[in-house]
Amino acid sequence: MNERTFVLKGTICYSNSLTELSITENGYLVCEDGRCAGVFDELPEKFAGISCTDFGDELIIPGLTDLHLHAPQYTFRASGMDLELLDWLNTYTFPQEARYEDTEFAKEAYSVFAEDMKKSPNTRACIFGTLHVPATEILMEQLDKTGIKAMVGKVNMDRNGSPQLQEESAQASADATVQWIKDTLDKFENVKPILTPRFTPSCSDELMEKLSEIQKRYHLPMQSHLSENFGEIAWVKELCPNTHFYGEAYSQFDLFGGDCPTIMAHCVHSSDEEIALMKKQGVYIAHCPQSNTNLSSGISPVRRYLDEGLHIGLGSDIAGGTSVSILRAMADAIQVSKLYWRLVDSSMKPLTVEEAFYMGTEGGGSFFGKVGSFKEGYEFDAVVLNDSTIPTPLKLSPKDRLERLIYLSDDRNITAKYVAGRKIL
Ligand code: GUN
Ligand code: FE
Repeated sequence: MNERTFVLKGTICYSNSLTELSITENGYLVCEDGRCAGVFDELPEKFAGISCTDFGDELIIPGLTDLHLHAPQYTFRASGMDLELLDWLNTYTFPQEARYEDTEFAKEAYSVFAEDMKKSPNTRACIFGTLHVPATEILMEQLDKTGIKAMVGKVNMDRNGSPQLQEESAQASADATVQWIKDTLDKFENVKPILTPRFTPSCSDELMEKLSEIQKRYHLPMQSHLSENFGEIAWVKELCPNTHFYGEAYSQFDLFGGDCPTIMAHCVHSSDEEIALMKKQGVYIAHCPQSNTNLSSGISPVRRYLDEGLHIGLGSDIAGGTSVSILRAMADAIQVSKLYWRLVDSSMKPLTVEEAFYMGTEGGGSFFGKVGSFKEGYEFDAVVLNDSTIPTPLKLSPKDRLERLIYLSDDRNITAKYVAGRKIL
């Protein structure tokens, strides 16, 4: 029998829809060839011979997706949190990212990051590296070994960096990108390249044009930043006086969704036109509540994005955010949505546990295809959570236990983790 065919028994919980959880106590979750074959109260006869691991009443949830984070920033998370975005980038981020020129430093720093990602409840991630090709390939190699499935980007930046952190020219940046794509497109089982222009202030028009050609040639997905901070938005307006809104600085080069799947991180201050274009082009929003709070960026209007049916998942945005756990991002998303409702717009109801859970599982997971659910045919990403180390004399329902784990759990509560039917923890 195939090693990616097995059964897990426990309290199985996943999203039926944005607003509804499916919960099966003492349920059987079947994995067949790395894909979900269903959730059952009683194990059907045809699966009777398959090996079954009984996790008692532990919770089994779909693996979580971190739709936006910066691996090189893991070293200095929780530093400089008194600054806003542009000052934080210049003071902390760029000098630290410049250190990844040194491959020995990259190996050491990325091994700590990869190890912590492995121990987290996340099974998928879309990750920024630095502009350095050798260091980015080291990151990809180390992540690949963890078994987590990830898209990783060599960052493009040919302007407004620092003497230590900027590519020589648009041509040099494009050439390095093509070399890196050729090196890594088919090299890893679990990790794939994703095009990563840092953000408009970091990329000249000439570079954006070249990246658009590269994207079409290799049909690559893309990730970047959008409408995160007021200073940043005003700067983009100056840099691109012909555009009506920030998103147009990407869409004018055909780098804004459509044929190639695209993630834009933040979208805290997007205009009506920008939101309409994201919807039309199927752009994914990576909502990063912890980062938006730490860097005083603001509160993203997530209720509106959900109501308007945009694609949206959660991101840690390390090191704007400090915690890699997407369970923590769910709690943060709920909390900031309450402040938005109370302080900004009383017609925008706070997020529910169901909605935050959906965004952290299927919402972000769908960027990877059929991922983030236990519906039949989905890739088998699962996390087993043990809440017995957070004792309470209360008799809790599975939904109450899930909510408590969202707010209270850490890596010690993770019993096991599976990615595409392979046990990695
Ligand atoms: N915008 C451009 N670069 C960055 C970064 O590294 N972090 C965040 N939060 N926003 C950015
Ligand atoms: Fe970011």
